[in-house]
Amino acid sequence: MKLLEGKVAIITGASRGIGKGIAEIFAKNGANVAFTYSSSAASAQELENELNALGIKAKGYQSNAADFGEAQKLVDDVLADFGTVDILINNAGITKDNLLMRMSEEDFDKVIEINLKSVFNMTKAVQRTMLKNRAGSIINMSSVVGVKGNAGQANYAASKAGMIGFTKSIALELGSRNIRCNAIAPGFIETEMTAKLNEEVVKGWREAIPLKRGGTPDDVANACVFLASDMSAYITGQVLNVDGGMLT
Ligand SMILES: NC(=O)c1ccc[n+]([C@@H]2O[C@H](COP(=O)([O-])OP(=O)(O)OC[C@H]3O[C@@H](n4cnc5c(N)ncnc54)[C@H](OP(=O)(O)O)[C@@H]3O)[C@@H](O)[C@H]2O)c1
Repeated sequence: MKLLEGKVAIITGASRGIGKGIAEIFAKNGANVAFTYSSSAASAQELENELNALGIKAKGYQSNAADFGEAQKLVDDVLADFGTVDILINNAGITKDNLLMRMSEEDFDKVIEINLKSVFNMTKAVQRTMLKNRAGSIINMSSVVGVKGNAGQANYAASKAGMIGFTKSIALELGSRNIRCNAIAPGFIETEMTAKLNEEVVKGWREAIPLKRGGTPDDVANACVFLASDMSAYITGQVLNVDGGMLT
């Protein structure tokens, strides 16, 4: 029996990077996968085909997680296509880094809307179904930066710290209905998002990590399988650092 056999998962932002890794590992563990993307239609179609070939049901939806109405419509569409929702992974996120001195109001608002408000939008949208099922696992993709802060990322760190407060509040609110909510705080995971960074800086980061390497999307995806599955049935309101020991 696979760990996520027959469960329906919504994963936001899975056309590439960590979200794509989660979608692949979830499908291999037997989950049916509804995933979203913002604009990468071709990669999303490719992923949908790849996942369906694994013998589960998978479908990609273009949906802006920052838009309340679109999040509602997405969940309605997923319910029509898949019948229910057991797992929500709020993974979609962006960076717009700058020192505070140079950070525009627009870049602050955009990061908060896409990274944090999206979590409110999506959690609201799945809540009714999970309450009805008296079961659910919600996983919010925060960051070590949300735990520790980072110069040049005040907007991003604020959004990721906000996700942790939201996670703990939802764990408290919905625990009595057997709905669990946890956050993952990845450290340095090598994806397109991090490929934009300066190679010298990246080398320094790898050396400073106790496990001496950047993480992979699979490292994060495996932690998601645990938190989504019944293996973690008594775990809620937690932040799991997946960071090679970076914050230790
Ligand atoms: N990489 C790291 O080191 C690291 C560390 C800590 C935390 N994280 C967090 O992990 C998550 C994934 O990061 P990543 O590195 O995999 O990022 P990525 O490679 O840049 O991928 C971001 C994904 O989010 C989607 N997306 C962007 N805006 C969206 C929106 N408004 N609505 C729906 N989907 C949207 C993108 O879709 P399109 O392809 O269509 O644009 C893409 O699928 C993020 O929340 C990030 O903050 C990453």
